[in-house]
Amino acid sequence: MSDHSTSFEARLKARATAVETCLSGILGETIQADEIARPAPLLAAMRHGLLNGGKRLRPFLVIESTALLGGDPEAALRIAAALECVHSYSLVHDDLPAMDDDDLRRGQPTVHVAHGEANAILAGDSLLTLAFDIIAAPETNLPDRQKTELVLALARASGIGGMAGGQALDLAAEGCVLDEAGITTLQAMKTGALIRFACEAGAIISAGSADDRRLMRQYGETIGLAFQLADDLLDLTADAETMGKATGKDAARGKGTLISLRGQDWAENRLVALVADAAGLLRSFGTRASILNETARFIANRDH
Ligand code: IPE
Ligand code: IPE
Ligand code: MG
Ligand code: MG
Ligand code: MG
Repeated sequence: MSDHSTSFEARLKARATAVETCLSGILGETIQADEIARPAPLLAAMRHGLLNGGKRLRPFLVIESTALLGGDPEAALRIAAALECVHSYSLVHDDLPAMDDDDLRRGQPTVHVAHGEANAILAGDSLLTLAFDIIAAPETNLPDRQKTELVLALARASGIGGMAGGQALDLAAEGCVLDEAGITTLQAMKTGALIRFACEAGAIISAGSADDRRLMRQYGETIGLAFQLADDLLDLTADAETMGKATGKDAARGKGTLISLRGQDWAENRLVALVADAAGLLRSFGTRASILNETARFIANRDH
């Protein structure tokens, strides 16, 4: 590993630790105003789904895109935590027997295996609503207008026109042959939408210009496609121990991926092209965007 990538990974780890400290504080036993009680089995399932490791890449993108545009780091940390709640919920539900039916996630038993299906469903529900709670709460120090924009953007990225809709397309496509456009749309929704939100959030938190917001959205869309392409490649090439989740499952379940359609060499070339596209989008920021450029390379070249 080069010194460069070592320092990138150290930065990713430091940001992950800050987000986990924030999340652990929010998701404790302390009852918040207007809450009536926090049932212990549900709290345990939520904490399992949220605090069980993970790269925390989406939070990293919120924090680094906010830093690039000069926004408040404390507000970025709260929005990063909110986004990780949505992402973690999506994984808890993705692993359910009715969806991908997986037993291993982030190197541990999945939430439904450890806490039962009903608690896993409810933990997902509660993590999704917690995300919006975190954005709206007074501890998130942003003007109401920016909070409303974040709520709207996160809702659109998470719901029928984003992640949840993409998951529906993904399940409907099992065993079918989709064309490249169909797979790209599915992946832009199930994975790309939350990654796009992560980057766009930096522009919203920083009250950036319309141009900055557009560039951050496009950068997010580009690395979002790269992210799922790399996930699909790793499903084919990596082992469960490295990944912390089962591999070889896409082919077994007849998932339509760009690799099943175009092959591994095509996918590797496409990843190189997407990293170059991301760099092109960031060009106007000059060297200030070096972390985001490195993030695109990390996403494409990661081994877990
Ligand atoms: C896995 O996401 C789900 C996909 C969208 C492919 P990550 O690879 O970011 O999972 P964690 O959060 O690091 O566990
Ligand atoms: C999941 O995609 C995307 C989500 C919205 C959770 P995958 O089903 O490929 O993710 P993994 O491989 O189980 O992490
Ligand atoms: Mg899935
Ligand atoms: Mg899955
Ligand atoms: Mg996968």
